Amino acid sequence: MEKIRLFDLTRQVQTLKDDLEEALRAAFATGQFILGPNVGAFESEFSDFLGCPYAISTGSGTGALQIAYQAIGLEPGDRIVTVPTTYIATAMAAATLGGIPEFVDINPENGRMDLNMLRERLSNAKRQGTLRRYKAIVPVHLYGFTEDMEHILQVSDEFGLPVIEDACQAHGAWMTVKNQKVMAGTAGKIGCFSFYPTKNLGAFGDGGMVVTGDPALAERLGMLRNYGQKNERHRHFVVAGNNRLDEIQAACLRVKLPHLDSFNLRRREIAAYYNEQFADVPLGLPPEEPEGTHAVYHLYVVQSPERDALSVHLARQGVETAIHYPTPIHLQPAFKSLGHHEGAFPNAERFAKRVLTLPLYPELTVAEAETVVAAVKDFF
Ligand SMILES: Cc1ncc(COP(=O)(O)O)c(C=O)c1O
Repeated sequence: MEKIRLFDLTRQVQTLKDDLEEALRAAFATGQFILGPNVGAFESEFSDFLGCPYAISTGSGTGALQIAYQAIGLEPGDRIVTVPTTYIATAMAAATLGGIPEFVDINPENGRMDLNMLRERLSNAKRQGTLRRYKAIVPVHLYGFTEDMEHILQVSDEFGLPVIEDACQAHGAWMTVKNQKVMAGTAGKIGCFSFYPTKNLGAFGDGGMVVTGDPALAERLGMLRNYGQKNERHRHFVVAGNNRLDEIQAACLRVKLPHLDSFNLRRREIAAYYNEQFADVPLGLPPEEPEGTHAVYHLYVVQSPERDALSVHLARQGVETAIHYPTPIHLQPAFKSLGHHEGAFPNAERFAKRVLTLPLYPELTVAEAETVVAAVKDFF
């Protein structure tokens, strides 16, 4: 029995093999492997793709979040507000700087940040005089679905807090803000992307990007990813580490970027097929895309109270699945010191017990998608 993998990264390499090999040969020939021509060109092409003035590449998505938090002035003891239903990096990047991730629950209907809870939390902080310790609101465009940026930006204005978007799973997704089409990652002060290999735009190793429309922030972000240097070497303006994208990853990402929209469309087609096929199956499906938004299905995540049995059944039928994410981050041992217990964020906790990710990537074949559907239907 041929196994159906959750992702098969070798297929995209095959599709783009000649172009990738050519790009690598050219990159090797330059002899410039740190902040060389491909890094600069990729930053400029990614900023054009998003229609955002400044893009600064980093060593990873986590690195992107770290320098974003530093750039907006996060100091030890300061807080960021995010959701517990995300990859741990959203919170970990702040915690590694001495920051405190504070969580608000998700809305059970659509998995988005509960904005009433967000407002309540910030109102309380204002009343108690602690609002100045809050440095950013961090919405996550999870699974390639956009957050409700229109309303998050209203809260941001109301409390004078910048928004840092975690767009690590949402390259090419867009939403509508004030009647304008806005790419995920470009609505707030800073947007953060990851090029982890399985992402919609994936490298052959680690990589990331921060984007912003603010020239002063862009300059600061550029320094923060490169030992505090601007354009001149050996002059360090701020304390910072090494958080750079390498030239070889940039060369490969430049080959892939022109294909991102078509890869995303293929993801959407497979998702539409699954949605249609599962319409009569007792499964919680991904949320409907709100009008004026465009999801890019980084992951196709269903929900079921029988999640574990379903996953065992699918494995027996050769269909690989995964759980994104089995433990909401407020209950992770690493965040024990925050003092959260089970029941603190019931929607996020229920979600974590029910979610299951089915195979979906641009190169998944029609026959494989049909096998996945048949195996799911067979369970029910
Ligand atoms: C939502 C989210 N945030 C942050 C990250 C961190 O990115 P990276 O793995 O490139 O550090 C990831 C991906 O791994 C992610 O999915």
